[in-house]
Amino acid sequence: MKSFHWTGFSALAAVALYGRLPSVAEAASSVISPKIVILSMYADEAGSWYDIPEFNVLEKNYTIPGLSPVYPSLHCTADGQICQLTTGEGEANAAVSVATLAFSPLLNLTQTYFMIAGIAGINPKVASVGSVTFARYAVHVGLQYEIDAREIPSNWSTGYFAQDATQPGEFPGVFYGTEVYEVNDALRQLAYSAAKTATLSDSPDSTPLRANYSKNPEYKAGSEPIWEANVYLCDTATSDTYWDGDLLGVAFEGTVSVFTGGQGVYCSTQQEDNATLQALLRAAIVKRVDFNRIIIMRTASDFDRQYPGQSVVASLLGPEPGYEDSIANIHIAGVKVVEMVLDGWGSQFAGGVLAGNYVGDVFGSLGGKPDFIPPASAQAVGRKRGYSRRR
Ligand SMILES: *[C@@H]1O[C@H](CO)[C@@H](O)[C@H](O)[C@H]1NC(C)=O
Ligand SMILES: *[C@@H]1O[C@H](CO)[C@@H](O)[C@H](O)[C@H]1NC(C)=O
Ligand SMILES: *[C@@H]1O[C@H](CO)[C@@H](O)[C@H](O)[C@H]1NC(C)=O
Ligand SMILES: *[C@@H]1O[C@H](CO)[C@@H](O)[C@H](O)[C@H]1NC(C)=O
Ligand SMILES: *[C@@H]1O[C@H](CO)[C@@H](O)[C@H](O)[C@H]1NC(C)=O
Repeated sequence: MKSFHWTGFSALAAVALYGRLPSVAEAASSVISPKIVILSMYADEAGSWYDIPEFNVLEKNYTIPGLSPVYPSLHCTADGQICQLTTGEGEANAAVSVATLAFSPLLNLTQTYFMIAGIAGINPKVASVGSVTFARYAVHVGLQYEIDAREIPSNWSTGYFAQDATQPGEFPGVFYGTEVYEVNDALRQLAYSAAKTATLSDSPDSTPLRANYSKNPEYKAGSEPIWEANVYLCDTATSDTYWDGDLLGVAFEGTVSVFTGGQGVYCSTQQEDNATLQALLRAAIVKRVDFNRIIIMRTASDFDRQYPGQSVVASLLGPEPGYEDSIANIHIAGVKVVEMVLDGWGSQFAGGVLAGNYVGDVFGSLGGKPDFIPPASAQAVGRKRGYSRRR
């Protein structure tokens, strides 16, 4: 597609939605162009933004057909510069809600920044509960072959391995296209620096839990308090399945590394980011959004695995003393990022932040070539794109 015809799309979509064409005046007055859209996945993450002194995203509500029945409205400041959407949890909710937003005739998102702002599980090898993370790679670790761990060959460490591979540790032989996304690293560095200036919330409730992680020297980062604005650059893993435990943690550390050609560092775990990115990618292909303007921020609510001596079930179902801090830190760190974009709009952000790295999906749908695919596998990816062994 050569260029994006807003008026044509908008009129067609309006006919589909409302059965008639909007008048010119209606169309002009109803289109909003936020500078930043905050993406929350459920009520507590959204609520982090609702009663803060810096700005009020509940001044204007826009009900958009196609959003989650539980969260039917986009919320914005009165001037329309900052908006917040709650997608609903899990991959399907995130993909459909974000696609609905991205293709809505109500919005012109061509210059909009998107910040995924949610909580996550955290790898104690990298960070502790309450900390804030910014990802460059989002890896869909659920999109793999799996055999139950009780039936794996004796020399395998996990039952998960890449599609069209023969064992764990091998690069996928086939991609569906949503396995890995890479976002703008220069923008990520700016967001990281802005968030570093925040004074994060860290309650003493997390101290005894962290102390238990100190029993394993590998978990040093997880055992330390976050008094000094603990903000990290590390990557995120998506799966609808909410996993817990050392073995799956180590398995998915491996998946993130294998899928990103050794460049990704697994630290946060969540159930939506790859789906959100897929929706934004499809909108970016038709130039409705700019894929260079995406920030993935996840704050750590709980550990992704047990401490030494704890059962995995207790780790999964037990108390999460870091939860309140992780919710509070969404806006405490996130406000700094929003202010950075708004305050620097004229000087830097309206025109976009030049990415030094590849930005996009495994197929190179937006142009360029993914830098995370080892050269030996590149041909296979091209050849087997869309291939399916059984389904
Ligand atoms: C969308 O916003 C951009 C940036 O302000 C502008 O250049 C473009 O013309 C707008 N598109 C439409 C269809 O209004
Ligand atoms: C927008 O919706 C929220 C609840 O979702 C409500 O609290 C708020 O008052 C609404 N704002 C307006 C202007 O109606
Ligand atoms: C999911 O998104 C992450 C980046 O947030 C990316 O590294 C990963 O490859 C994506 N995975 C899939 C399956 O889309
Ligand atoms: C497991 O052992 C088989 C047979 O020796 C070997 O071919 C394979 O590479 C091994 N796999 C792993 C993951 O170590
Ligand atoms: C820390 O570990 C001890 C011993 O296993 C346990 O009794 C205690 O409840 C744990 N504390 C937390 C906060 O998990």
